Order: sequence, then structure tokens, then C-alpha cells
Amino acid sequence: MNEAILNLNGKDFTLPTIEGTEGEKAIDISSLRNISGYITLDPGYQNTGSCLSAITFIDGEKGILRYRGYPIEEIAENATFTETSFLLIYGHLPNDEERKAFSLRLTEASMIHKDMLRFFKGFPATSHPMAILSTMVNALSVFYPSFYSEDFMSNTFDEMATVLISKIRTIAAYSYKHSTGEPFSYPKHDLRYCGNFLNMMFDSPVKPYIVEPEVEKALNILLVLHADHEQNCSTSTVRLVGSSMVNLYASICAGICALWGPLHGGANQHVIEMLENIQNKGLSIRQCIDRAKDKNNKFRLFGFGHRVYKNYDPRAKILKKQCNIIFEKFSIKEPLVDIALELEEAVSRDDYFTERKLFPNVDFYSGILYRAMGIPTNMYPVMFAIGRMPGWIAQWKEMHDTIPFKIGRPRQIYTGSTLRNYSETEKEKKSSY
Ligand code: SDX
Repeated sequence: MNEAILNLNGKDFTLPTIEGTEGEKAIDISSLRNISGYITLDPGYQNTGSCLSAITFIDGEKGILRYRGYPIEEIAENATFTETSFLLIYGHLPNDEERKAFSLRLTEASMIHKDMLRFFKGFPATSHPMAILSTMVNALSVFYPSFYSEDFMSNTFDEMATVLISKIRTIAAYSYKHSTGEPFSYPKHDLRYCGNFLNMMFDSPVKPYIVEPEVEKALNILLVLHADHEQNCSTSTVRLVGSSMVNLYASICAGICALWGPLHGGANQHVIEMLENIQNKGLSIRQCIDRAKDKNNKFRLFGFGHRVYKNYDPRAKILKKQCNIIFEKFSIKEPLVDIALELEEAVSRDDYFTERKLFPNVDFYSGILYRAMGIPTNMYPVMFAIGRMPGWIAQWKEMHDTIPFKIGRPRQIYTGSTLRNYSETEKEKKSSY
């Protein structure tokens, strides 16, 4: 076992190091404050590992992403989202029996309690679906089994996981139907996970929805690609909130809120709005790029850049290919695709972006695919949440299975006023009247 020697004010401190199965290395600083009185400071946790995890591996330099060791390209091509969810949560691909039982559990859990339908009436039709989703997911804890600290990791975990993975589709589809004023379409037991969601979204009494196999496969690939991504902002939020021993529904609700941000899962909505701006406001690609490079301008090129990938996001590569397949199959003419391809090309030739290794990320092409399916722009972060649900659950479970289990509580360096007395301050204030 290697060690790290830290020399502070002439004194050496020895810290253990750790190496993961893929050669990632870390200095274990869990004893640092006790032995040296120092803590570390790392805004945004750019160099700080929060946990050991066996779920997802990313090599950002090489653009590698694996779920439980399987390359994302192979999973996206061969596995259903249901199988991928099982793999992430339980650690292995399901055998036939496990797959059938898990699928049946998801199908049987797809309806939401009728009293939850009343909640939708309280939301304005213009509500952002992420606000509805986070509220309704948290409300699941009052209708469905959950567990609190006393029966820690009891058998309700499997049921909670099923409730969340299955019902998030129903809540999402109903938030869309609520926005259009159309009647809800109930889940159907003879449809698979993705087809059931599409049917709940688009089926209507006057025009029954036909689930096209290519669309169902594209949605399956989209959800698989979003299923987990190690310790990103929303997953770290689920872990941190879950570390207080609150139930899984509340932890996931926090993750949904973190994902909503435009720097994270909300970027897929902003990508489409950015491309529409270029199209509708006659913005040139060059103008768009120059605004993104201007340090005095808060605007960023949504869909580009990543904290970990300093290479092309492997998920974006797969989605770009899927766009070609869907647009060709349904002879879709989508001007935003041409703008996106032109923008990607211009960025790839611009030193500002190449020097900073800013490549398209998963959000750059996902919105274009959702758009081709007829899903409205403000639903794209919701689609991200549907995909990420199994990853959040898997990471929450892994944290709870870890012994010793610690509540997350970072430290800080205080930079405010030093000691001052209220009475002294008051006297000064009064004398100055
Ligand atoms: C997701 O973490 C995950 O795994 C997330 C995710 C997942 O699956 O969970 O992959 C999903 O959230 C993808 C990212 C979606 N967000 C966006 O597309 C928003 C646009 N991207 C940026 O805001 C940014 O790239 C982040 C937030 C994604 C990453 O930010 P970092 O790691 O904090 O990098 P940074 O802001 O420090 O940028 C480094 C430099 C800066 O310039 P300098 O200070 O060096 O001059 O690159 C610049 C930034 O200004 N930069 C950009 C840019 N992204 C980074 N400049 C213009 N446009 C951009 N998109």
C-alpha cells in the first residue's frame, strides 16, 4: 500500500492511499484533521472523491463509460432499460426468471393512487413538469411503503425501487396531459416499459397511439444512456440527502431538483431553446460561439463541456447516430439538426473550445431525439430523470449498504468577522446618533 507524506510547517504527516480496480488513485484524508489540524478545500469537489463505488466507471480522458463493467455501447445496443435498471441496482444482469419477475413488478406498479390524481388539479397547466415531478415523487412516501432509520434497509427497499422506476413514467405522462388539458391515459399491462410511457403520453380517445418499434427502441437507448453517471451533481445530492436516513422518495426528490439546473440535466431543454434562438432570432453560429466565449456574458453553449469527459461523451456519439436512424426512417426534416451539426463543426475548429477540451455532452443531441418523438421541450429534464432513476436508486442503496455508514457533513474555512460583542457594537452605534 503506497503512502502520501504531507509536510506542513516542517512536520511530516503520513496518509494512506487507495487504488481502484481501474487504477484510479486517491489519498485517504479521513484522518487528516485529527493528525494535522488541517482540512482540505476543493470548491465544486473537482479533486475530491466522496465514496468508493462499484456501479459506474468513467474514464473522462478516453471517453469510456461502463455500467457494472459493461461498456455503454454494448448495453445501449443489447439491453432494455428494465434490464439495465436491474443491473445497476442489483449488480448483475437478470436471468430469465429475475427479468420476468422485475418486469411484472414494474408493470403492476405503474398506476398511481387515485388520490394523487387530485394533486394535478392544484398545478397550473403552465407548471414546469420538473416542479410537478419533484412534488409528486416526494408525495409517494405518504401513499407507498417506505422505511425510516429504525428498519434500516428493510425489505421495503425492493418495493420502493419498483414504485419509483415504474410510477415516474406515469407522473411524467400525466404532467404532460395536464398541460394539454387532455384526459389521462392509464398504463397498459400489455405494453413494455418505454411503449407504456409513450402510450400514456400520446394516446387519446380520438386518436389511439401506435407504438412504433423504432421509436420505442430509440427511447430505450435514451433511457439506458441516462441511467447512471457516477457521482454527478444530482447523484451526489441523492447520496447526501439519503445519508440523513430520510426515505428513498425524499432523497430522489432532492436529486430531481438538482438535476433540473441548466448546468446539469436541465441543459437538454436549454440546448433546444438555444438552437431555436439561432433559428428564430437569426443568430449566426459565429455570434453564438462568440457570446459563449465572452467572459462578461453569462451565456454558455448548452450541451458542450463536462467536468469529467475531456473527450467526446460516448453517449452523445450514440445519440447522434440515433438521430440519423430516426430522421431517415420517418423522413423527418428537422432544421435544428442542421444547426446543431454546424455548431458542433464550428466548435470543433475553435481554439477556445479545443484548448478547454469542450466536446458535445449527452444533452446536445438528446433533445433533438425527444423532439422527433413529439415530446415537448420542457419535458426533456423529466426524461433525463426517468432515465437516471435506477442510477440514483443504485447509488443510494450502495451508500446504505456501506459499513460504517456516515452522514455527509463537509467542513468549511470561516472567513467572516472575528469575535465582537453585541454590547460594544450597540454602544458605538448609539454614540454615532
Ligand atoms: C450533465 O457530471 C455529470 O456526469 C453530468 C452529466 C450526467 O450524466 O449526470 O453528464 C449530465 O449535466 C452534462 C452537462 C450539461 N451541462 C451543459 O451542457 C451546460 C454547459 N456546460 C458548462 O456549463 C460546463 O461545461 C459544465 C457545467 C458541464 C462543467 O463545468 P466545469 O467542469 O465546472 O467546468 P468550468 O465551468 O470550470 O469550465 C472550464 C472552462 C471555463 O473557462 P476558463 O475559466 O477556463 O476561461 O471552460 C469554459 C468555462 O468558461 N466552459 C465553457 C463551457 N463549458 C465550460 N464555455 C462556454 N460554453 C460552455 N458550455
